Amino acid sequence: MPAISLSDASESFDTRQSVGFGKNSRTMEPTSNVENLRKEYTLSGLYRRDLSSDPFEQFKIWFDESVRTAGDREPNAMTLATASQDGAPSARVVLLKGFDSRGVVFFTNYESRKARQLAENPRAALSFHWPWLERQVQIEGIVHKTSRAESATYFAKRPLGSRLGAIASGRQSAVVENRAILEDRLSALKAEFQGADPPVPDFWGGYRLLPERFEFWQGRENRLHDRFLYTLDSEGRWKIDRLSP
Ligand SMILES: Cc1cc2nc3c(=O)[nH]c(=O)nc-3n(C[C@H](O)[C@H](O)[C@H](O)COP(=O)(O)O)c2cc1C
Repeated sequence: MPAISLSDASESFDTRQSVGFGKNSRTMEPTSNVENLRKEYTLSGLYRRDLSSDPFEQFKIWFDESVRTAGDREPNAMTLATASQDGAPSARVVLLKGFDSRGVVFFTNYESRKARQLAENPRAALSFHWPWLERQVQIEGIVHKTSRAESATYFAKRPLGSRLGAIASGRQSAVVENRAILEDRLSALKAEFQGADPPVPDFWGGYRLLPERFEFWQGRENRLHDRFLYTLDSEGRWKIDRLSP
């Protein structure tokens, strides 16, 4: 594969100046001393007696607390990891849009890279990080598409600009020549629909992850964190284990 240097970037801005590391320098040296970034976690602890026997209920308690305390942060942002059939992983942030005993719902483009990986391999992992609570939750399981009706119902609730943007995006994760192509598509769609409701495109919809494993992590002093893992036993009951930090 040919080596690509930053100066090969096709769009015509100075790439060096757009990089946060070593702004205006050619060195790419981080401006902060990464080794010294360090924080003690002291807010609270997590004990077995605090836990619900049902991980869905436990997630709801923590998620509600995170929403209450989030301020202008996005408590429903979660990292979604998927993998191709041959096991190459990829991860990106998506937004949680529903949660109940049937699973965890997010919406995306069915032609995106993540969707192609989920078609090959429906196993996925989710990770929430709520730094203001010194908490992480990891959820793993199998993903299915939501019904068309469910996707259409959610699509209709989105602001018009987001709906037109999703249509204009077309095949998410495909290479586009430049931003103007996207802006032109959006302008054309605005003119076509003139404020009317666009139908949900076939290439857009939801996924629901049915959890098989939950882990709740609470940061503690001296890196002796509290971690509790919920897994299903052979009779379909949730088993809770404390994990070494
Ligand atoms: C805070 C945040 C929220 C996002 N929410 C979504 C989302 O709900 N759905 C989505 O498809 N992409 C969302 N994205 C964009 C994705 O991270 C990603 O760029 C996109 O889905 C393409 O991913 P892929 O090429 O791995 O399929 C979000 C990104 C951020 C930073």
